[in-house]
Amino acid sequence: MMAMTILSFEQHRIEMRPGETVLQALCRNRLFVPYYCQVGSCKTCVVRVLDGAPPADSQLDLMPEQIARKCFLACVAIPRQDLSITRAEELA
Ligand code: FES
Repeated sequence: MMAMTILSFEQHRIEMRPGETVLQALCRNRLFVPYYCQVGSCKTCVVRVLDGAPPADSQLDLMPEQIARKCFLACVAIPRQDLSITRAEELA
């Protein structure tokens, strides 16, 4: 059996459900990040990786500066390994 994927956000530790997006997991835990379209087009839901790798396909169409800062779209990101994230505007 595969280990549960853990999403860390601020002081929260969320067990991801199979097939769940980062945005869905945050909403399920009543953690607010801005979002709108939920299909990867409006780019409202940008968040940033603190530790781990941005999930596959979650950086398509982002600007090079955003990719360099490990930003990704929460609404299309399905993590397959543990991931620690923060709000995109909080610069390290
Ligand atoms: S909510 Fe629109 S791109 Fe994620």
